[in-house]
Amino acid sequence: MKRRRPRRLHPVNPALSLLPPYLFVALDRKKAAAAARGKDIISLGIGDPDLPTPGFIVSEMARALRDASLHRYPEGRGSPGFRQAVAGFMARKYGVRLDPATEIIALIGSKEGIGHLPVALAGPGGTVYAPDIGYPVYSAAAVLAGSRTVSYPLRERQGFLPDFGCKELARGRRPRNSVLFMNYPNNPTGATTSPAMFDEAISWAGRGGAWLAHDAAYAEAFLDGKRPPSLLSRPGAMDCAIEFHSLSKTFNMTGWRVGWACGSPRAVDALAAVKSNLDSGVFSAVQRAAIAALTRGDSAADAMRDRVTRRKKLAVPLLEASGWNVFPSAATFYLWCRTPGGMASAACAERLLDEAGVLATPGSGFGRGGEGWIRFALTVNEDRLAEAFARVSRIRW
Ligand SMILES: Cc1ncc(COP(=O)(O)O)c(C=O)c1O
Repeated sequence: MKRRRPRRLHPVNPALSLLPPYLFVALDRKKAAAAARGKDIISLGIGDPDLPTPGFIVSEMARALRDASLHRYPEGRGSPGFRQAVAGFMARKYGVRLDPATEIIALIGSKEGIGHLPVALAGPGGTVYAPDIGYPVYSAAAVLAGSRTVSYPLRERQGFLPDFGCKELARGRRPRNSVLFMNYPNNPTGATTSPAMFDEAISWAGRGGAWLAHDAAYAEAFLDGKRPPSLLSRPGAMDCAIEFHSLSKTFNMTGWRVGWACGSPRAVDALAAVKSNLDSGVFSAVQRAAIAALTRGDSAADAMRDRVTRRKKLAVPLLEASGWNVFPSAATFYLWCRTPGGMASAACAERLLDEAGVLATPGSGFGRGGEGWIRFALTVNEDRLAEAFARVSRIRW
């Protein structure tokens, strides 16, 4: 039967038109088109670890799958066992003591919690301070919550740390219901921070009643033996802050969708209120597997750090030898590089794909401040990495 074309298109939420196309969807399309042309593509685009989830976590999941009691709706905030495991992990790794009943909530990946946070804390009329450059979800989530976004700059001369004296964050301009996102170790730059910066952030928040949201998805991906601090370890943080953690990158579990938020009980409650109306929590079997990762995963995390360290030691000299300027970083599996001759990020990414078959992420996808930069994710084995950067070195810019 022939479908009649509607005379008038039904409207959708106009806010959707304010969202940029999700960066990695656009990249995937480019990669597929190049592969269809027969090109051997080395994908250094999305930050998705290439190795499988460690066997002991998979085995725990297999066992849990056979436990029918886990097939029912999970507890919205996470099982007591999961929250206890998180509390133990946060105490052991970061010296942060949390009450599992009120200060921790399970997330369907940290992206989910980050995405819902502006609804929980800011809402229409509220303000979300998002770093430019930064993970694009902070500002997209603000748009979907109907909140105002204020982009604050992260610049190389400040080591990609916030400048609380900049005009966007200056005192006296802070509206009600505001939340400031930060992310250290940082995607895309790999920058790390110090307790002193967190203290400054807490004092900034305290003066105006703003919330701090710290995205610590890469907290375990430190490469210099120095574990980065948790915002929650700083005095005053539990009154004004919430922190996001993830199992994705630490344990090669991006597909499993599990992470957590922790911090101020008031912020955790607000997030729980949003989530309980929209989702029904993390599959209980996945939580069981996550408990195994958090309680028995130290050597898996060490192996991840060793692997990333080896890859950085290989990749950085190769890039530098062919004239690339790489931001020095001791964390994450990203390399944040100036484009050759300061050319536009998109044009540079296009040439990398067309001439070297290397997929990289244009810095402009992380905000205006990322223009003139390129991000390489070291998510292929060392042979492929050497091949990728040998090809890149042959491009005549
Ligand atoms: C900075 C940052 N935060 C959060 C996430 C989300 O991670 P997940 O939802 O897998 O926990 C990512 C994923 O790439 C990220 O780069």
